[in-house]
This record gives sequence, C-alpha cells and structure tokens, in this order.
Amino acid sequence: MSEARIRTLAEYEAARAHSIADPEGFWAEIASDFQWRKPWTKVLAWDFDGPDVKWFLGGQLNITENCLDRHLAERGDKTAIIWEPNDPKEASVRISFRELHERVCRMANALKRNSVQKGDRVAIYLPMVPELLVSVLACARIGAVHSVVFCGFSAQSLADRINDAQAVAVITSDGMFRGNKEMPVKRVVDEALEQCSSVKRVLVHERVRWAVDMKPGRDAWLHEELKLVDGDCPAEPMDSEDPLFILYTSGSTGKPKGVVHSCGGYMVYTQYSFINVFQPEENDIFWCTADVGWITGHSYMAYGPTLAGATQVMFEGIPTYPDPGRFWQVIDKHGVSIFYTAPTAIRSLMAAGIDHVLPYSLHSLRVLGSVGEPINEEAWHWYRTHIGKGRCPIVDTWWQTETGGILISSLAGITDEKPSHAAWPLPGVQPVLLTAEGKEIAENEVEGLLCMKFPWPSILRTTWGDHDRCRQTYFSSYKGYYFTGDGAKRDAEGRYRIIGRVDDVINVSGHRFGTAEIESAINMAKGVVESAVVGFPHDIKGQGIYAYVVTEKPVDDPEDMRGRIIEAVAAGIGRIAKPDKIQFVSGLPKTRSGKIMRRILRKVAENELGSLGDTSTLLDPAVVEEIKDGRV
Ligand code: PRX
Repeated sequence: MSEARIRTLAEYEAARAHSIADPEGFWAEIASDFQWRKPWTKVLAWDFDGPDVKWFLGGQLNITENCLDRHLAERGDKTAIIWEPNDPKEASVRISFRELHERVCRMANALKRNSVQKGDRVAIYLPMVPELLVSVLACARIGAVHSVVFCGFSAQSLADRINDAQAVAVITSDGMFRGNKEMPVKRVVDEALEQCSSVKRVLVHERVRWAVDMKPGRDAWLHEELKLVDGDCPAEPMDSEDPLFILYTSGSTGKPKGVVHSCGGYMVYTQYSFINVFQPEENDIFWCTADVGWITGHSYMAYGPTLAGATQVMFEGIPTYPDPGRFWQVIDKHGVSIFYTAPTAIRSLMAAGIDHVLPYSLHSLRVLGSVGEPINEEAWHWYRTHIGKGRCPIVDTWWQTETGGILISSLAGITDEKPSHAAWPLPGVQPVLLTAEGKEIAENEVEGLLCMKFPWPSILRTTWGDHDRCRQTYFSSYKGYYFTGDGAKRDAEGRYRIIGRVDDVINVSGHRFGTAEIESAINMAKGVVESAVVGFPHDIKGQGIYAYVVTEKPVDDPEDMRGRIIEAVAAGIGRIAKPDKIQFVSGLPKTRSGKIMRRILRKVAENELGSLGDTSTLLDPAVVEEIKDGRV
C-alpha cells in the first residue's frame, strides 16, 4: 500500500510537526502518491473569508484512474467488493478490481449513451447494491457530478435535491430489500419527478423484480442499457478543483444544503485518512456499515478503500435481520478484519444481548472503528470487550460531511486511545477550541467551540448554487476559522472529546437533521399551527426528536393527530426523521420579540425541570408551567 503511511508514534509526531511547519510541502509529498494526468503548479491557495480554498492548482486527474486503473497491474484479480445481500440465504458476490473497472466503464458508457456529459449532475437513489458504488464511480469517470440521495428519504426530499442540483438523470432501482420488508424505490422516484423538469433520463436497476411503471422516452432498464455499450471508457481528465460530487446535509436553518467536494483534494485526503486511521495491510478485509447515501459511505466505501486497493464488504441489509447476530455472522463469514460502524448500532446490538454475539468467533477482527456521534463509555467498553475481545484498537473518528474525511481520531495501534475521545488530530489538521467570543483557548483541560484554523485538502469548497450560504454557515461565525458547529473538550494531554452540536442540529442515530426542517414538515400536517423541535438523550439513538406542537383546536384524538404528524414528517423528509415524542401545547415559550426559547424546551425534554433559568422575560410565562406538566 501507500508510502504516505505513518507507522509509528514517532512518525506521527514528526508528520504532525512537518504539517504545521510546512503544510504545502507535507501535502505535496502525500499527493505525489497518486496518478496525475498533469502535475499541479501550486499546492494551496486559501482565504477563509471568501471562502476560497484551492488545492493542487493546475493539476489534472481522474479519481477513478486512481481507484481502479492503477491497481489493475498488481491487484487486477484482487477482490475489491464482497457484496453481502440482505437475505443470508442469497449468495454473496465477489467483484475483483478488474471486474469493477469493467463495470464502471460500462456504466459510464451507458451514462454517455443517455446524453450525460461532463459537469452534468446525476442523482443516484439506490439501495446498497453494487450498482450504487459502480454508479458513483461511473459518474466520476466521465466527470459528471454525482448527488447520492439516501434511499430512506421521501419523494419530496429527493425532488428538492434533484431540483437544487438540476440533475439531468437519475439512477435508481425497482425496489429494495430491507430486513423482512420489500420496499418501493422507483415509485418514490416517479412521485419526485412530477416536480422535476430537469431530469431527462432514468436508469432503473432490477433488484426485487417488481412491476414498475416505465415512462417511455424517459425510463430505461439499466441491464438493457449496459448491453448496448462496451466496457472500455477512457477517464475524463478533471481539474483538481472541478466538483466531484454534491452531498446534501442538514444545517440549523432552511433546507438541506449541497456540500460540494472537488476532485483532487478529496482524493488525496480520503486515501490518506483511510490508510492512516485504519492501518490496512494488503490482505485486510474492511467493512464500513454505513450507507453510501451518507458521507461515510462516500469517503470510506466508494473512494478511500478503492483508492487504497483494499478489499471491502458492502452489506445490503440491516443489523437486526434475521436476528441481531447478523453483523457478527458476516464478520466471521467473510473474515472481516477492520470493522467500522456507528455507536447507535453498537448500542442497539448491546441491548439485544450477548447471546447474539457468543456464537461467533470474531477472531478475524484486528481494528474497530466508530463514527457519526459521540460513543458513550458503556458502548465503547462493550465494543472493545465483546467484539474486539480486548485485543483490537478502537478508532473513534470525528468528522463531518463538510470535512470530507476523518479529521480527529487515533491511528489504529499507533496513537493511544481513550474511551469517548476522538483523541488526536490527523497530521495536516489544525483544530482549535474557541471561546464564545472567538478567542483561541491555548490551555488544556478546557471546553470550547471546535474550529479549524487551516485548510485540509478535502474541506468543502462551496454549497451548491449558494456560495454565500457556505460562507455564512461555516466561515462567518469566527473570522479566519472554519466553524464545525460542535462543542469539544481537550484533556490534560491534548486529546479531543466531542460533546455534540452547539447549533440547532440534531444527530439521530448518527443522521443529521435540522430542527427547522423537521418543524416545517410537522407544520404541513393538517390542524397544526406551529411547532418546535429539540433533541433529547436517547439510549439507542444518541439523540431522539422531541416535538412540541400547537394545534388549531384542542386535540380530542391524540393518537390520530400524532399519526398525522408522523405521516407529515415521513412525507416531507422520510421516516428516519419521525419524532420520538410529541407533546401538544397551547403555545410555545417566546420572548417578547417572538423568538422561541429553545433552551427551556430542551431542558423540559431532557427532564431537567429544576434548571429552566429565568423565564420572566417571556411573553407568556404561564406556558412554561403547562409544558412542564404535560411532558411526555
Ligand atoms: O456532531 C458531530 C457528529 O456528527 C456531525 C457530522 O455529521 P455528518 O455530517 O452527518 O457526518 C457524520 C459522519 C462523519 C459532527 O458535527 N460526529 C461525527 N463523528 C463523531 C461525531 N460526534 C462525536 N464523535 C464522533 N466520532
């Protein structure tokens, strides 16, 4: 594997010092590990005020040549993907790097045949089938910008994303398997497309063999299209700063925004972080359980492992089907050695009981990873003891859709680890903690707002179609810094511990939602006047969603009204965002200027009724008593 690989603590420390003293020299060395069509002329130009960040300026490359072509000579027959279907009785599928290369090229040609051109946006709405990874890489092959939308999002969410990006094509499937359910997929696309005029072509992968409506002139079966093209497709040379993909993510205000990552920097950082955090060796088998619809599946399935030439498992199913031993069975079945999952999955499998773990040896495991939300100490210890059998390091990887790759994490077996601590910045990453007033806190054993004071290659470049929103969201709170939206602590030795979001973003089972987007979905339910949503601690999900809802009339059938609210959220966003608790209230606590006092609502949801603070400035202080009494 790559030379840009840290193998000892001394090397880690040296790399970190080098990256601070000479960031451009540091990254130039790492970037030279890739195939460039044209070398860059300047490593970095940056200004956080714009923001205007560019890496490897003047360079040209195609990321798929680095993910696929460059492996063919030495690793052509090596397995790239082991696909494990939802149903354990269905056979798994192995795809070598050579086959993956051929399939990506064929898919790329199918896209071209369907008039997709360099720079066009393609929406991908697919379950966890190999075609999902193939589609992502096929877009990158021809320079089309992919926008993957997680299959759990509703037709409305899909339509919003397609319209924002003005996608010209959609790649989807007839339906999907999920545990013991079969669910429609194409039907959701059809509903979404009623609102989308930009989409000219829809390619449909056959997975569940359902009859679906095919719109003549617009829809085509993927397997038929693939027969019409060959498996040879030269990679499109891309400028380093050309956009590679858009991925929509929620913030504290408005609709989800399209985070844009570019080709060169993202390539360099995803491979670099993958090999250094997980420390893969040539024969390791990596399994990231995330869906490709989220950033984790982009960076550590589609790109990081393929760039590094690693073998990975792709799993179609869910952790609890046919029983909560499924993850552990798949690990034994395929000899998984590096396992990367989310705390919410660990907590739910922990709750299912150790009896589901005991039948499996798990002896192939070497490294464990965690991502998406803070991992509580109990889950950390359970993971370490029962899954890692006390011998596997755990990397608690902190990062975001916007950061493109892992920024803070221990490096497996190299830097130390501490429960619930993401711990150490990767070399090349310069985190700081700021006070609320924006002053850098130099000392240790402190808490503050987590910011970055220097760019890294996979920092987001913009938010699609609205650069000012990017500036305002990430670069305007504290001048000269990228603001993460997270609060963090630094311990006596300098390890970071992420506390959680300090803005109106809720992290449910590692999925990000803005309170405002959930509220606007709830407000669509008939009979709802207004609502306020906050997070509350949830044993399995990390955070749950607590909604306070004001209705037009007193609610005489609360179950019916709750059902309608949940349906409104399912329609507006998707079932993944449905509130866990709904409390009907006659009014919301507001200041005289009309601002909702979320602090009070959060405290009530957290059941901290004794510490509500000063409520005398409220427009109607009596409403607080009502809310306290009616807590659900
Ligand atoms: O609050 C942090 C939390 O997830 C947020 C980013 O969410 P998203 O963009 O969806 O990406 C998730 C996967 C990278 C962060 O602002 N978060 C992510 N990883 C961790 C975490 N919180 C604590 N510890 C982590 N390891």
